[in-house]
Amino acid sequence: HPHFAWRDGELHVEQLRVSELARRHGTPLFVYSKASMLASLSAYQRGFAGRKSKICYAMKANSSLGVLQVFAQAGCGFDIVSGGELERALAVGAPARDIIFSGVGKTRAEMARALEVGIGCFNVESEAELEVLSEVASTHGRTAPVSIRVNPNVDPKTHPYISTGLKDNKFGIAHERTLAAYCRAAELPGLRVVGIDCHIGSQITDSSPYMDAMERVLDLVEGIEAAGIRLQHIDFGGGLGIDYQGVLPPAADQLWSRLLARLDARGYGDRELMIEPGRSLVGNAGICVTEVLYLKPGEQKNFCIVDAAMNDLPRPAMYEAYHAILPVKPRSGADESSYDVVGPVCESGDWLGRNRQLAVQPGDLLAVLSAGAYCMSMASNYNTRSRPAEVLVDGDRAHLIREREQVSDLMRGERLVR
Ligand code: LLP
Repeated sequence: HPHFAWRDGELHVEQLRVSELARRHGTPLFVYSKASMLASLSAYQRGFAGRKSKICYAMKANSSLGVLQVFAQAGCGFDIVSGGELERALAVGAPARDIIFSGVGKTRAEMARALEVGIGCFNVESEAELEVLSEVASTHGRTAPVSIRVNPNVDPKTHPYISTGLKDNKFGIAHERTLAAYCRAAELPGLRVVGIDCHIGSQITDSSPYMDAMERVLDLVEGIEAAGIRLQHIDFGGGLGIDYQGVLPPAADQLWSRLLARLDARGYGDRELMIEPGRSLVGNAGICVTEVLYLKPGEQKNFCIVDAAMNDLPRPAMYEAYHAILPVKPRSGADESSYDVVGPVCESGDWLGRNRQLAVQPGDLLAVLSAGAYCMSMASNYNTRSRPAEVLVDGDRAHLIREREQVSDLMRGERLVR
């Protein structure tokens, strides 16, 4: 990851020293590289050069306004999954037509607001949702642009909690029901069919599930268009993985050159292509900087207790996910020991890394790598811990894009009983 490098004995993000950022802003601290985000985006842009296409950043991966701004300014649209995410997209000036709305449980109020601002597409996930969306649109004197999210029933070979394209999960409309759902959508007065959508899972490191999903989706497109319903766009969702631990996913441009070749071969090269990448745009563009509080040697295990925890960075606790953890200023020549790196939260599941070889002392800084996606956006206030601050580095400049929460923020809105 060229934007995160050890020089002169310490970790830098672009041109800035991480230790200096931690001194200024405290820890735990998320630090992002703008150049890294733009480099990931440009791999997709290269892949789509000369095509009608739209890259809708799936902001659930990291929805901080300063991050969204980077992608809005680079011309991305946004994939949202809630009314809250809609307001974030609007807050960074995203044109409403570049916003697409995914998710299995859109409320009437969320639909109404999205219709009012005029978003580009609703990715509908059930037949019941089609009926409600049509009704809400008619009530508001609008027609809702819709895609149906189809479930291609392919195994993305990723963690079960983040695979979404298999038959037995809650997402999308089953392959067999798709044509009937499209026919219904076409006759509902409040809807206008504009496309088709699929998303098979996340952290996919192999291209074959994508190739399979593409064939299956195009089979459906054929059937839908044979029924007289024209699809203007095809949305292939997100899901491309990143390198956490030496398993290299395909590069976005290479994956897409293969997918586009299939699309062309089957005669759909003229459709607008949409994708909804999240992790692959931001995951390796961020780190979480944390300070070692205590070392606690034990008979079975040594613990390295740090000031970041599962509330700040929930992926290890939730998915047993691996994040590399490295000293910001390596102690050269010092003896390493094996540690479980754990946080202060009162749960055995509160760990960030297990069996890591580290030479550290209390007061040292550690960097948890690949922390740009699904870390801050999933952070919580468990144990009444304030969520970290976030800094966006751009060359030799650091922008504080989120202040560290204050305890008073955490108690806001609560009432003592009188
Ligand atoms: N589109 C839809 C409809 C999605 O559900 C998702 C992610 C994306 C796009 C973006 O997927 P990506 O490109 O980021 O893989 N919290 C989990 C990941 C959950 C993914 C949920 N859906 C984790 O930390 O691994």
